[in-house]
Amino acid sequence: MLEGKKILLGITGSIAAYKAILLFRLLIKAGAKVKIVMTEAAKNFVSPLVLSTLSGEKVLVGLFEEDTWANHVMLGRWADVMVIAPVSCNTLAKMASGQCDNLLLAVYLSATCPVVVSPAMDEDMWLHPATKRNLALLSHYGNTIIPVEKGELASGLVGEGRMAEPETIVRFLQECFFRTSELAGKKVLITAGPTYEPIDPVRFIGNRSSGKMGFALAEAFYKKGADVFLVTGPVNMHTKFVGIKVTHVQTAQEMYQASLAEFETTDIAVLSAAVADYRPDVVADEKIKKKSNELDIHLVKTNDILKSLGSVKKDAQFLVGFALETNNERENALHKMQHKNADMIVLNSLRDANAGFGHDTNKVSIFSRNGEVVELGLDTKENIAAEIVKNIIHATQG
Ligand code: CTP
Repeated sequence: MLEGKKILLGITGSIAAYKAILLFRLLIKAGAKVKIVMTEAAKNFVSPLVLSTLSGEKVLVGLFEEDTWANHVMLGRWADVMVIAPVSCNTLAKMASGQCDNLLLAVYLSATCPVVVSPAMDEDMWLHPATKRNLALLSHYGNTIIPVEKGELASGLVGEGRMAEPETIVRFLQECFFRTSELAGKKVLITAGPTYEPIDPVRFIGNRSSGKMGFALAEAFYKKGADVFLVTGPVNMHTKFVGIKVTHVQTAQEMYQASLAEFETTDIAVLSAAVADYRPDVVADEKIKKKSNELDIHLVKTNDILKSLGSVKKDAQFLVGFALETNNERENALHKMQHKNADMIVLNSLRDANAGFGHDTNKVSIFSRNGEVVELGLDTKENIAAEIVKNIIHATQG
C-alpha cells in the first residue's frame, strides 16, 4: 500500500530515535522511497552512518554542509508525506512556534505535503500543559499526531509518553494513503459477530458467528473514507485500522442500545451481526446446579435491531440487513427487506461448504429495493465486503 510512496523521515533527539531504524526498514519493506533528515541532537542516539548505509543515500542534517545548501523547499515538495518519528519535546515546541534553526525545521515549515508526528517523551513532559498546547497547535496546523503509548520510559518510570511502535506508525501512514474519498464525511454503522445471552454467571446462549464479515465490511467502508462505527459482539478479532471506532457488547440488548445510540446521525447502516432472536427470561444469580434430570429455560424475544432501525429510518438513511435462509431464499429475503424496511438485503448462501459462519470465504446475493439482484461468486470476505460496499455506493450515489 505504500508502494512507490515518497516518505521523508525526520528523526529528532530522543532515546526513541533507535526505533527509527526499524521504522525505516519497515517503510522500505512496504515499498516506499525514503529520505532521511535528522537533527544534530538525534545524532547522539542514532548514527547517520548506520542510516545512510541502510538507505544508500546521504542522511541530511545541516542546512549547510560541505559548502552546499540543502534545498529544504525541494525536499518538502518531493515527499508525499513527512513523518517525524520520534518528535522530541524541544522540536515539538519549535514546530508549534515556527522556529527554523535547523534543516528538519526548515523542511517542516516549507513542506507542502501532509506531516505526521510521533511524539516521544517522559510522562511528566507529556502531561505538561505546554506540551498539550503545542500538540493542539500542530493539530490546528493540519498535522497528524500519532498517539503515544503507555509503558516503560527512558527514565525507568512506567507511564504515558512512549513513541508508538514502528508497526503502528506504518499502519498510520497506510491509513493516510490508501483511503479514498468516495464516502468522506459519511457515517457508517456496522454490527458484527454473535451475541451472548446469559443463562447464569458462567453459561450463555450464543452462536458460531466469527465476526469476520462485519469486520471486513467495517474495513472496506473505512478504506472508502467513511467514519466507521463498529458494534461487535464477543469475537476474537481486531481491526487493522485505528480510525475505526469499535464498541464491544455482549448481549442483543446491549447491541440494540449501542446501535440505536449511533443511528440517528448515521448515513449507512449494515447489520451483519448474528443477533440472538431469543434470550433467557431470567438470568440465574448463581451457577445452576444439576439437581434434576430436566431443565427448562424460558426464552423471550430480543429486540430486532434491524426492524427497530427500519422503523425510525429517515429517507436519506440507507439500511442494509443480512439474511440466512434454508428454504425459499429469494422470497424470504425480499419479505425480510419489506418487513424490516431495509433498503438492501445480503443473502448468505447455505449451498456452499466454504461460505458463511467461521469461514474466510463467503458467497452472497445482494437484493435491492428496485428489484435488482447481484449474485457474487465464492470469494474472500474481504472481496465480498468490497463488492457490497460498491453496490451500496452505487445505490446511494447513483
Ligand atoms: N437482526 C437484528 N436483530 C435481531 C435479529 C436479527 O438486527 N434481534 C438482523 C440481523 O443482523 C440481520 C437480519 O436481522 O441483518 C436478519 O436476521 P435473520 O436472523 O436472518 O432473520 P430474522 O429476522 O431473525 O428472522 P428468521 O430468523 O425468522 O429468519
